[in-house]
Formats: sequence, C-alpha cells, structure tokens
Amino acid sequence: MAAHRPKTLKIVILGDSGVGKTSLMNRYSTGKFTGQYKATIGADFLTKQVVVTDAFGQRHVVMLQIWDTAGQERFQSLGVGFYRGADAALLCYDVTDLHSIDNLNHWRQEFLDQVGGSMMVPGLSETAAQFPFAVLGNKVDKVNDRLVPLARAEQWCRDAAGAHSMGSIPFPHFETSAKTAVNVDEAFHEVARLALQYE
Ligand code: GTP
Ligand code: MG
Repeated sequence: MAAHRPKTLKIVILGDSGVGKTSLMNRYSTGKFTGQYKATIGADFLTKQVVVTDAFGQRHVVMLQIWDTAGQERFQSLGVGFYRGADAALLCYDVTDLHSIDNLNHWRQEFLDQVGGSMMVPGLSETAAQFPFAVLGNKVDKVNDRLVPLARAEQWCRDAAGAHSMGSIPFPHFETSAKTAVNVDEAFHEVARLALQYE
C-alpha cells in the first residue's frame, strides 16, 4: 500500500532586518539560538514535519515549508518568486524597535501585491481578505529595552483584521523570544493551523 504523503504548507517569514526572522526559524527547527547576526541573503527554506490540530480537534500530519526572507532591501534581489504559493505568512517585528512594527503595513502590502492581491478601494482586496497572517513581536527577553507596548501591537492586529472586508480571518499575535524560546512553538503551530484551515 502506498504511504500517504503529508500535505506541504508554505509559510513565509517577513519583517525588517534584524528583528529575528532567521533566529525564530532556527529556534523552531533546531531548538538552538546564536547571538551572532548574519544577514539573510535572498531567501532560504527548510521543512519540518508537524502535527496540526484543527478547530474540530482532528490531527493532521503536514510538512511545513518555512521560507526565511531577507529584511535588508539590498539582499531582496531574488524577489517575488519566494512569496508565490504561500499558504500563510508570519509578520515579525522587534518589541525594542518601534520602526519595525510601523513597517508591518509595508511588509503585508508588498507581500499581497506580490502574491497577486491587487488593490481595490482603500482597504484590502478579496485575496487579502482571505489570506492568513500571524504577527510576532520578538525579543521579549529584552525587558528593559522594550518600546512597543502589547496594547499597541494588539491594536495593529485589530486594525489589520478590520481592514478585511469580510473580517473573517483573525490576526493572531504572539510575543516571542528566539533566545529563550518563549511562544515560538506556539506561534508556528498557530500559523500552521491557519494555513491548513484557509489553504
Ligand atoms: P535579516 O536576515 O537581515 O532580515 O535579519 P533577521 O530578521 O533574520 O534577524 P536575525 O535572526 O539574524 O537576528 C538579528 C540579531 O538579533 C541577531 O544578533 C540575533 O542573535 C538577535 N536576536 C534574534 N532574536 C532574538 C531574541 O529573541 N532575543 C534577543 N535578545 N536577541 C535576538
Ligand atoms: Mg535573516
């Protein structure tokens, strides 16, 4: 009997340079963290087999294909091909960097433009309305350097969800630390669940 091949779900990680996208992916996939910064060039992906529990309590084995992208503009040369076929996206900011949360609008819009969500009226297109995102505020271990209050991020998520004409897709938000592993598994599991649900 042929073995049942797990479904592949493509997840793209987006956000400013230095917010910790690569660190989050590495923490999730290998359980390790390094304090050194090495800019991602272009994009890279890895796969991880996971079990996702859906809204009905049903368990699904899926292959998560996690794409880590470059936050630095000069390294984004390989561009849009990396976004194509994505089933969900993680929008990442750094809780110690106000600019990085302001830029989430840019990352979301650029992503939607690339995957084919053409803009209609102010607000978002049908494609946008149906596309699942999760928002991650990383580096919560740096308690003394925090500049982005939780309430501000939650407001951003409410506004983003409200911009969806149907308003049906939630914008889950997690405060994470790739350094201490806080909420990393939870965030990836949630985005996998959303990807499966809205695929
Ligand atoms: P680009 O590849 O340029 O887009 O950056 P990136 O978003 O992938 O950032 P990266 O994961 O390389 O992390 C940038 C720096 O922040 C590194 O020095 C990491 O060690 C550090 N860092 C990442 N996550 C955390 C975290 O949760 N806490 C702390 N304290 N440092 C972190
Ligand atoms: Mg990186």
